[in-house]
Formats: sequence, C-alpha cells, structure tokens
Amino acid sequence: KLLKNLFRTEYHFQPPKHWINDPTGLMNYNGIYHLFYQYNPKGAVWGNIVWAHSVSIDMINWINLEPAIYPSEVFDKYGTWSGSTTILPGNKPVILYTGIVDDNQTQVQNYAIPANLSDPFLRKWIKPDNNPLIVADESINKTKFRDPTTAWLGQDGRWRMVVGSLRKNERGLAIMYRSKDFMKWTKAQHPLHSSAKTGNWECVDFFPVSLENTDGLDTSFKGEKIKHVLKVSLDVTRFDYYTIGTYDTKRDRYIPDDTMIDGWHGLRLDYGNFYASRTFYDPMKNRRVLWGWTNESDVFPEDSIKKGWSGIQAIPRKLWIDPSGKHLVQWPIEELEMLRKEKVELRNYELNKGENVEVQGITPAQVDVEVTFSFSSLENAEEFDPSWVDLYAQDVCAIRGSTVQGGLGPFGLLTLSSENLEEYTPVFFRVFKTQDKYKVLMCSDASRSSVRNHEKMYKPSFAGYVETNLTDKRLSLRSLIDHSVVESFGDGGKTCITSRVYPALAIYGDTHLFAFNNGTETVKIETLDAWNMAKSEKWI
Ligand code: FRU
Repeated sequence: KLLKNLFRTEYHFQPPKHWINDPTGLMNYNGIYHLFYQYNPKGAVWGNIVWAHSVSIDMINWINLEPAIYPSEVFDKYGTWSGSTTILPGNKPVILYTGIVDDNQTQVQNYAIPANLSDPFLRKWIKPDNNPLIVADESINKTKFRDPTTAWLGQDGRWRMVVGSLRKNERGLAIMYRSKDFMKWTKAQHPLHSSAKTGNWECVDFFPVSLENTDGLDTSFKGEKIKHVLKVSLDVTRFDYYTIGTYDTKRDRYIPDDTMIDGWHGLRLDYGNFYASRTFYDPMKNRRVLWGWTNESDVFPEDSIKKGWSGIQAIPRKLWIDPSGKHLVQWPIEELEMLRKEKVELRNYELNKGENVEVQGITPAQVDVEVTFSFSSLENAEEFDPSWVDLYAQDVCAIRGSTVQGGLGPFGLLTLSSENLEEYTPVFFRVFKTQDKYKVLMCSDASRSSVRNHEKMYKPSFAGYVETNLTDKRLSLRSLIDHSVVESFGDGGKTCITSRVYPALAIYGDTHLFAFNNGTETVKIETLDAWNMAKSEKWI
C-alpha cells in the first residue's frame, strides 16, 4: 500500500492506476477542456494502448471518463496511438489518430467524431466506415508513420496536416497531406520539413506564435508578425526539440531560422524528463498551452508493476516566443495558483559561500516555490572550459555539480532534501565566462536524489543553458515540487527542466527545502515565496 502511494503526485495529472504516455487530442470545446492520453487499461507497463479521456474546466481538477477510442476495427485492431483534434467550421471536433493494423505495427491514419455534439463531455466517439483516411504509399516506412498533427487551413481553402516519419539514413521528416474535405487526403510532393541524422520523428507539432505579445494563435492563423515553431520528439534521445522559423506558404515548407540547430544539439522544450508533448490553442484565455508526458525514471518495469502505475503529465504550460525571437518561453498555467495554500517568504537574505538556508514552515514534498537571486558582480564567474563546447549541458552539469565550488554559483534550491542532506535534488544556476560573454547553465541534478541505489538506476544530471545577458544581475527560478517530480522554470521560463526522483528518506513530512550558494560570490535572495500546494481533485 505504502509503495503504491509513496511516489504518487498530488497536483499533477495522473489516473488512479496503470500506465500512461503521450497527452493527445487536447482541446477546449464549448468551455470544457479535454485531455486524451495514451493509456494501458490493463497494467502499469506500455501496451494495449487506448485513448483515455478526462475533462476539466481549469486543466487542474479532472473528471475521468471511459476511454474515447480503443482498438475495435480492422484499421486499429492492434492499437490506437497518438494524434490530435481539429475543430472544423461549424464547431465540429474531429480526432485524427494512428491505428495499428497488424502484428508488424503497420500504421495508418484514422479519424473519429463525437457521437453526440450536445453531450458537453463528448463521451462517445464514432469511427466512421471510410477509415482509414491515409495509408502509407511505397515511399513511406509504414512502421514509422504516425501521430498526425492538428490540421491547419491554407489560403487555398485546403487543410494541411503532417505525420512524423523516418527515411533511410536516419533522416526524420514531417510528411504533409492536403485535403479539401478532411476526408480525401493527398500527399504533398515535399515534406513540410526534414532533418538528417535525427531518427524517427514522433508527435510532431507545428504552430504559429505571435511576435507582438504572449497571446496564442489559432493553428490556422494567417498574418504578419508571426513565426512558426516546429517541435519533434526524437525517439532516439527521448527529448522534445524545437526550432523557430518561417512557414513559406507558397512552397508549403517550413524553414528554420539561421540561428537554429536542427537536431540533437538543438533547443529543447524541457531539458529533463518530458516527452511526446503537444500544444493546442485555448480560445478561453487566448493562449497556446503545452502538455508533456513525464515518464518514470525508476527504470525497472518491476518497480512500476509494484507501484501499480507509471507516468504523469507535466503541469500544463502557457507557451509563447521570447521578444528576441531566439527561443520560446513557458510558464505554468495561472490556474495552478488556485492550489496555493499557506505561504512562507524570505526577503533580502544574503547567502555567502557554502551557506544553506532552510525554508521552514511549509511541507516541502508538495510546494510551489519562486525565488529571485541577485548578485553585485559577474567578475567571479568561472572560466568555461573550451573542451566543453561540444558537450551537452547535461554533461557539463555532471562535471560541475552543485557540490563543486564555483565563482558565481552554483546557487539555487535543494529540493526534496533529507534533513542531513543524504538526499536532495539541487536545481541551480552556474555562471561561466567565455571569451566575450557569459554562459548560464541551469541544472536539475538527480544524481544524489535517492540513497536507494542499484547500478542501473537512472539519476541524470539534467541541464540546459539559459539565454540571458544578465544585465540586471538577477536570475529567478520556480520549482513545482510534488513528491516524485521537480518541474523547474529558469529565468521566467526560458529554460525548463523536469526531473523524476524517488527519495527514500526525503518523503512526506521528512522532506526539507533549502536555498544554497556554493560559489565565492555572495548572492542575495531578493525574494523567495513558497506555497504549500493543495491536491487537485480527480473525480472518477
Ligand atoms: C510517443 C509514441 C508515439 C506513439 C505512441 C504510442 O511516446 O511512441 O509515437 O503514437 O507513443 O503509445
């Protein structure tokens, strides 16, 4: 019983039991949010995949419904995999999803429509007889052909959508289809985009962002002062990458901006445990919202079987483009704040080299904490070793962890800590000097997260760089801590990192939270606010 509950989250989305993966088909329909997700109704490991279905009015509290789509027909008998929803003119939602048709995992694209549009929860979905809508032609690898995107309308009045795939030599691609009536789809001659040596593209997402403000845009939006974002989930590395670029509507092609890296060294939506994410346009608050799946890191399927569950969804995030145009920004949806309860704060607290300060008066296993650090000079920043240039940020964090003394940093939070620091997951910044500028590393390091130890346990030192010039000599951090997850937002959401961790000592009431500085430069906690978080409601 204990193990079943020990690592369950209280305010993240997770069903009462069993395996979950990708969030899919997200939408708001007539004021109700729909979350569908890949779910195994029979166990805590991947398999027997259906579209589980939950509805909400705030994306925090949920009502669980019966699965909306499950294998039943020749065109999906072996699986109902990820997809999307599109709301057609006349306010008619349609689901596009991947059906598995045989033992070899041959993939086709299907659709489903609500049985009864006047049911506010859209409980029942019908799969019409003209399925499948799309089968792979000879040029396509039919076992790597999945996860259709939300469709968008072109100037010519035709719908477009893309399906992720893989060509020879590990070239990932987004195959484009067009349709006048949403039923008969024709493959475009060129993919929307492809990139060498990236491996199979899963859960592709393609959407416009506004250069004028943080509002979201409908996926079919046409106009000036916008950019487009292409997001891919790379099967090989298990991270979600994105580029920002231009959608050339004449040639029907996406072109990433020159500054973008289109591959494994590119920008990630989250530098941690966060995969198969999708966005949708939310007309209720005129924003684009991102959902991502955060898998267990306890590695052994046996652990999940013992727990009886596996996987959670990250807190939904509002997403927009930074005014620089160089990266996206993400922030937990404001609705989360209604779960904030008792609050404690620190103001103008100086942290000298080697100092920790405990945040007391809250229950740190389940909190939302926001902190702003400031410092008076950048002079003490340590040199960035030129040999690290080709490393991933994660490798640099593994070399320069929170216990390695630095100049400006490491400073940040020690989350899910045991009283005497036998266990903790530090989330922190470290500022480096390179030839002509500064480089800010943000880490969420699981390497000391648990005294439980076996050689295969996955305790990665997740990290990413933060795009900032540090002109105001401040760095802020927000962490959503929820028993086995630490979801962090650096510098207002420019860099995000989610870690899954399984402490043995730092559980329930024995959990502690500290702020720390392990650099020679004194840093000041200008403000620190921490709230106990109520649990979200999940009605079954
Ligand atoms: C991504 C993914 C998708 C697929 C689904 C199957 O996690 O592999 O590509 O549709 O999961 O559950």
